[in-house]
Amino acid sequence: MRIAVQQFMPEFGETGNNRERLLTGMRTASQASDIDLIVLPELVTTGYLFRDRAELESFAETIPGPTTEAMEALSRELDIHCIVGLAEKKGEKVYNAASLVGPNGIVGTYRKVHLFANERNLFDAGNEVWPVLRVGETAIGLMICFDWIFPEAARSLALRGARVLALPANLVLPHCQDVMVARAIENRVFTVVANRTGVDRRQDMDPVAFTGRSRIVGPDGEVLVDLEPDEEAVRAVEIDPELAASKRVASGNEIFQERRPDLYGALTEDNPF
Ligand code: ACM
Repeated sequence: MRIAVQQFMPEFGETGNNRERLLTGMRTASQASDIDLIVLPELVTTGYLFRDRAELESFAETIPGPTTEAMEALSRELDIHCIVGLAEKKGEKVYNAASLVGPNGIVGTYRKVHLFANERNLFDAGNEVWPVLRVGETAIGLMICFDWIFPEAARSLALRGARVLALPANLVLPHCQDVMVARAIENRVFTVVANRTGVDRRQDMDPVAFTGRSRIVGPDGEVLVDLEPDEEAVRAVEIDPELAASKRVASGNEIFQERRPDLYGALTEDNPF
């Protein structure tokens, strides 16, 4: 399986232009190297720094909608799948969502559960478990950005069979790219961080800078793809998803068989804090 990340700098609010630039990048990369799955950042068509809920609503779109339909058409043309992060309008709700789209349409959508900072004043939080979706034979788990700091998300996906964890992101804190190496090692899965780059600047608002450094990590923690903080690029690597089927570590421990759920009750009890 050939898997890619597209690191991108959206121009805030330029939804149509951003979409066109994304599609151009995807087409060029796919024609250059036969990509099966390309992972795009979070909120990649709109940008991140919304002034308020009303402004967010004015940019949000339905799923299916213009972005997923454009991605579906390109997926059919190129015979690829893609994961795209976008602001989703669903009735009265607005979600920070990511959809897996392929030649036959939308495979599934995840609505961000753990909202970061001011996102809590803008978006509705998702309430459904992180989905495991198929690209061919390969089980792909979907998370979004701040989910990285909750190890339960990655673990839940790995326990349900995900071989590749995809994380569309708009990262502002410094640690996620390194933590996703740990998430790969402890779950024996591939992790894909598709981050944006650049700065969102709005009048009378503090600018927000994003950290780039998108990467793809193997189940043994090897960093297979590693982008610079500031570049816009698509980078691909050939992976064998079946390497993530074995949960054996070098010493011969079968780490999923050796888990002790009888001792993990605190993880599923109501928050004591
Ligand atoms: C984030 O969750 N976009 C930091």
